[in-house]
Amino acid sequence: MSVSFALSQERDLSVDEIKDLQREVRKLAEEKNAVILAHYYQRPEVQDVADFIGDSLELSRRAAETDADIIVFCGVRFMCETAKILNPTRKVLHPNPESGCPMADMVTAEQVRMLRQKHPDAVFVAYINTTADVKAEVDVCVTSANAPKIIKKLDAKKIVFLPDQALGGWIARQVPEKEFILWKGFCPPHFEFTAGEVMRLKERYPDAKVAVHPECHPKVIELADFVGSTSQIVRYATTVDAKRVIVITEVGLKYTLQKKNPEKEYIFPESMNYCGTVYCCTMKGITLPKVYETLRREINEVVLPEDIMERARRPIERMLQLS
Ligand code: 13P
Ligand code: SF4
Repeated sequence: MSVSFALSQERDLSVDEIKDLQREVRKLAEEKNAVILAHYYQRPEVQDVADFIGDSLELSRRAAETDADIIVFCGVRFMCETAKILNPTRKVLHPNPESGCPMADMVTAEQVRMLRQKHPDAVFVAYINTTADVKAEVDVCVTSANAPKIIKKLDAKKIVFLPDQALGGWIARQVPEKEFILWKGFCPPHFEFTAGEVMRLKERYPDAKVAVHPECHPKVIELADFVGSTSQIVRYATTVDAKRVIVITEVGLKYTLQKKNPEKEYIFPESMNYCGTVYCCTMKGITLPKVYETLRREINEVVLPEDIMERARRPIERMLQLS
């Protein structure tokens, strides 16, 4: 079947249409020497066309190392920007330029500059979930996979951490020798999960282990047997000695978990969000037809000013060296 339906008018695709479109995407990727990178929160049909699926740290590394001519980045905007900054001679395409990370937009470069004046003695650490403009203003970046390790190594007593107050608080508890000033940003989907809901799940499944992403509220983190990035959760949940694992993060991760180890049961909370389960709307804004159109027409290229790329590269590269 040829892919002739109007892809700009998105609608539910049949199983056969999805398969055809996936074949077309893979064919285009081979023809154009493109690599498709996807985050775990992507839709299953998008994950299935990716060359690599990973957490923010692994995706940054892949983007930096690839010799493909085109990187199609199925994730949110800051991830595409990081790929462009680390590998500026490649064409980086973002299948949905509207897909930003709401938390990354909770702090601006101007706000960081003002904070610098207030805390000239502090080292400024940015979560990778920040805009390129903000990265250009800080000393080092971290992801949830490497944050405590990197911050312990920094030669400074005072740390300004932005924008995620939950991740920042979790790091601060592990690095008590340093003083932390936390920006009050948060991840809207991860803040939907409540401690009450996790307690109810623990009561219902007393034999289950609990894995939590550090973007969750501190009261939720307190209930965890394991806290880590999405990839770290995948490793833990698929190998831990327990038949059931309660997983407190965006529901997209379930697809990978079930594929990697179908023997276990993965329980995700059903917090009342718009559709009865917690999901990141902007991650889900990347659809298979958008991936296809973006690669076919080579549209939605990520373009950043040279000077911002230059300045934002330093904290990201410092992170890669320190981790
Ligand atoms: P990870 O680096 O753990 O994949 O997290 C990225 C993210 O945006 C989680 O909300
Ligand atoms: Fe941003 Fe949260 Fe979505 Fe991750 S899950 S991209 S932090 S809004």
